[in-house]
Amino acid sequence: MERKVHIFDTTLRDGEQSPGASLTGAEKLEIARQLARLNVDVIEAGFPASSPGDFRAVQEIARNVQGPTITALARAVKADIDAVWEAVRPAARPRIHIVLGTSDIHARNKLRRSREELLRMGVEAVRYARSLCPDVEYSTEDASRSDRRYLFQVLEAVIDAGATVVNVPDTVGYAVPAQWGRLIADIRRHVRNIDRAILSVHCHNDLGMATANSLAAVRAGAQQVECTINGIGERAGNASLEEVVMAIKVRGRYYGAHTDVVTPELCRTSTLVSRFTGLAVARSKAVVGANAFAHSSGIHQDGVLKHRDNYEIMRPEEVGAGETQIVLTARSGRHAVRHRLEQLGYRLTPAELERLHARFLELADVKKQVFDDDLHALVADQRGTTNQTYHLESFRVACGTGVTPSASVVLRSGEVLFERSAAGDGPVDACFRAVDSITGLPVALKEYRLNAATAEKEALGEARVSLQLEDRTAAGHGVSTDVIEASVRAYVSAINRLLSMGK
Ligand code: KIV
Ligand code: ZN
Repeated sequence: MERKVHIFDTTLRDGEQSPGASLTGAEKLEIARQLARLNVDVIEAGFPASSPGDFRAVQEIARNVQGPTITALARAVKADIDAVWEAVRPAARPRIHIVLGTSDIHARNKLRRSREELLRMGVEAVRYARSLCPDVEYSTEDASRSDRRYLFQVLEAVIDAGATVVNVPDTVGYAVPAQWGRLIADIRRHVRNIDRAILSVHCHNDLGMATANSLAAVRAGAQQVECTINGIGERAGNASLEEVVMAIKVRGRYYGAHTDVVTPELCRTSTLVSRFTGLAVARSKAVVGANAFAHSSGIHQDGVLKHRDNYEIMRPEEVGAGETQIVLTARSGRHAVRHRLEQLGYRLTPAELERLHARFLELADVKKQVFDDDLHALVADQRGTTNQTYHLESFRVACGTGVTPSASVVLRSGEVLFERSAAGDGPVDACFRAVDSITGLPVALKEYRLNAATAEKEALGEARVSLQLEDRTAAGHGVSTDVIEASVRAYVSAINRLLSMGK
């Protein structure tokens, strides 16, 4: 039978220790509410002894957030334990979390006490915490660099003293998966009373292995994983909650385990945490990155459109990421472009698609990515120019400080090319005058508007022109990454409309 892995979220404690990530009490409360919707098992809300503000934030969360166990961190001293208890006691399920080092490095250089003294301190702290609260977690800080026999002895002693959860941290991100998994299996084997507590791990990402180490521990029998949203945390961060949870979900059979996390809430939670902490999520971040479900190469796009399983091991809906994205770039083939056009409601004939794909590739060469608005503009442009009388072949402009703007425009009508030059008030005006001298039509410019069709730097310029010829008025529309070209296209398209109205 699959066993449950408890998800202990420490975004609001270890995550908030990320440099530059401090959160207000109100922000912490909002994140905690979202973590409850995500259905994590435990929220570590802060370190109450660290500041009165953090104490209040933990207390607010304990008072207002229902569902998960609410815990907070204490060193193995009475004052810290009292502060945690005061802060978490309003929760329906409070827990006190105590931390004390077990490695000789910490004993010698930080705590300046012998192993025996530290063991005694830990046991006393657990006994005291248990006199206040029925749920007490004990963390053996720097476990990955601790002497194994001493570590096992401490775990056994604190469980005998009443610890309900024992957490084994790789505080400095030193562990590697196979060795870490063996340590967890050995704890299960050699710590006499381990069945009386939940065995937990807490891995840091200094060598980029926090998720892998946490999962190796799960495979070896760990029952709780401590992690953070987006993997934020001290230095290089903690194991990322979304990666651990989705690995257990996607590879459930391998791990023989499941979590109770409501995975469609993952992306929303990630965005909230990123917005409040100011820590951006890399586009390529597993599970919640903007590119996690974006297919870019032509071969992958074709494959995923034929069958999603070809290139997707999980569905974007499962993590709340919206739809699979086909990122339209210069590598996208006709299949991908047609698919997106159909999603946007366009049905193009094979000939229309051929022409549009050619213009799409021209555009994609200039822009990194072609967006929906670009496609709308391309279709509108193509549909507006199918019955044209004049077609823009090329143009050149000369302008600058102290130079009279001038333009040379080449239009094609049927097989015939016409070229004229003109000067004007600006490069666009010069082009319009050159076009007028080709057509010979006495048109009046009634309106000229220029917009960016899309939001980014390499956006398409979209020009709209309204022209009057005698009693007829016609509008034209043109798009290009070059605003002068967009303007000339719009002008020529309006002239073609006027001419077709005349016919
Ligand atoms: O990294 C660590 O050891 C910790 C403990 C408090 C669990 O954050
Ligand atoms: Zn930590």
